[in-house]
Order: sequence, then C-alpha cells, then structure tokens
Amino acid sequence: MSLKLFEGDCLDLLSQIPDNFVKLVVTSPPYNLNKDYENKLDMNEYISQQEAVIKECVRILADDGSICWQVGNYVDNGKIVPLDIALYNIFDSLGLSLRNRIVWHFGHGLHASKRFSGRYEVIMWFTKNDEYIFNLDPVRVPQKYPSKKHFKGPKRGKLSCNPKGKNPSDVWDIPNVKSNHVEKTAHPCQFPVELVERLVLSLTNEGDWVFDPFMGVGSTALAALIHGRKAMGAEIMPEYIKIAKERILLAQLGKLRIRPMNRGIFDPKNPKNIPPKFVKIEVEE
Ligand SMILES: C[S@@+](CC[C@H](N)C(=O)[O-])C[C@H]1O[C@@H](n2cnc3c(N)ncnc32)[C@H](O)[C@@H]1O
Repeated sequence: MSLKLFEGDCLDLLSQIPDNFVKLVVTSPPYNLNKDYENKLDMNEYISQQEAVIKECVRILADDGSICWQVGNYVDNGKIVPLDIALYNIFDSLGLSLRNRIVWHFGHGLHASKRFSGRYEVIMWFTKNDEYIFNLDPVRVPQKYPSKKHFKGPKRGKLSCNPKGKNPSDVWDIPNVKSNHVEKTAHPCQFPVELVERLVLSLTNEGDWVFDPFMGVGSTALAALIHGRKAMGAEIMPEYIKIAKERILLAQLGKLRIRPMNRGIFDPKNPKNIPPKFVKIEVEE
C-alpha cells in the first residue's frame, strides 16, 4: 500500500500508526483564524490542541526523520502572533532540534492598511536526532554565475561553483496558491505542491512514508507520490478529502497539472516561462 487518506480527526489516525513509522511529517495546521474549517479558540487552548498532535507526530517519526511545521501569523484585532514563536517550545521540550527556519516568501495576499502587508510564512524544520536524512543534490537550484572560474591558486581555471547547482538557501520564493494558480481548488489555503516537493526530495528517500495530519486537499500526498514515496494523511472536512481523492485520481491518469519546481517567478518584463506540467503517479493498493 502506498496511500492512506483518512476522513476524520488526525488524532484518531495517529493513534493507529506505530512508533517510528514515518520519515517525514509535513503540514500546515489551522492558524486559529476562524476559517470555514476551524473555530477560533482561546490561544492557550489552541496551543494545547497543537501540542497533542505534535506529541503524536514525534512518536510516529523515525529516528532519522524530520518534522516540517508550516505556519504564519495568528491575527487578533490587528495584533499579530507569529505561530512559529508560539509553538517552538513544544518541539524543543520534546527534544527535537531546529535545523532551519525556512522563510517562504510569496507575492500575493491581503493589502494591509495599518501595518506592512504580510508576504511570508515560515517552515520550522526539526529533526529527532543528529543523524538525519538530508539529500541536497535533488533540490539544488541553478548557480547565478555557472561558468565562474577560480582566477588564482591550484584550482585556477577550474569552475569555482558546484556544476550541479547551489543550495536553495533558507529563503524560498514560491508563489502561493491564489485564484490564477494552476493548482487552485476550493480550499482557501492549500500548499503549492512544489513547496512540499522540495521537502520530500531532501528529507526522505524513495519508498519512505510521508505524513500530513492536516491534509486539506492532499498537496502533501501528491508531492510524496510524484516522487515515489508513500503518503498518509487526515482531513476532517469531507469536501476537502473528496477534492484530495479527485486530484490523486487525476494524477494517476496523468491529467493533473502542477506548477513545475524549476519554473521562475513571473516577471512582467519576461513573461515567457516554463508552462505548468502534467504529472503521473502510481498508487499501490
Ligand atoms: C491550513 S489547512 C491545510 C491545507 C493543506 N496544506 C493543503 O495543501 O490542502 C488545515 C486543514 O486542517 C484541517 N483540519 C482541522 N482540524 C483538523 C483535525 N483535527 N484533524 C484533521 N484535519 C483537520 C482543516 O479542515 C484544513 O483543511
């Protein structure tokens, strides 16, 4: 079996998963903003609910695995609470190590009038141990000056940068899924698949399980299956899990379009770019 989609509360699915079972947990939890799929809670209650899920995710995580918790701000009457700050201590107290606080920068969102418009969110990447999977080559990005050479010393005349590309750094410029994005569904805040692809490729190997407790319309599952990993996730809203299943079925038929990982950011001065691509996945029963 390479896919398990669970309709219901993620804690119910988590209770069925053995210890040390998954290599990567990647998720974007509710932000306590009173969206269709959540009730705005007192902040302490929200944090306790998150703590219960995080504890279970740590339990099911393999010793060389990673947890990526993608969050933005909780906003209350114009006052912001960055959720990575609010949640960091939970991971720290469970003995996890923060490896990167990745800044995901995007171009579109609400226009604020009493503060600067928010155009980034973060991914906290934690590992359970010091020995963890980290594959840099599959996620390298093109060098700025690929033909630059050493101009003196024993390496004079040889390429000074890695021809496979450079480390993508901890600031990722990836468009968020707004109305004209090729992956847009009815979900109000879905992941772009390419954001999860970068995590899947660098933090797991083929055949590993990738888990998303707050799966929405299945973007994490798609990113995992596209790259030959296994995918498991929970979603409490039936309409979103239905869309997740439809997207996966389309991808099995080779009819789902996603934004390619190597597509540049839209530049009105140079509108020609790599077009969206169809993906094809295989799901083992
Ligand atoms: C920020 S969205 C995640 C969207 C997802 N990353 C995607 O690409 O579609 C959070 C999701 O968690 C779901 N959710 C909220 N509480 C849940 C729970 N206790 N168990 C499972 N899913 C839950 C919501 O319905 C919502 O779809």
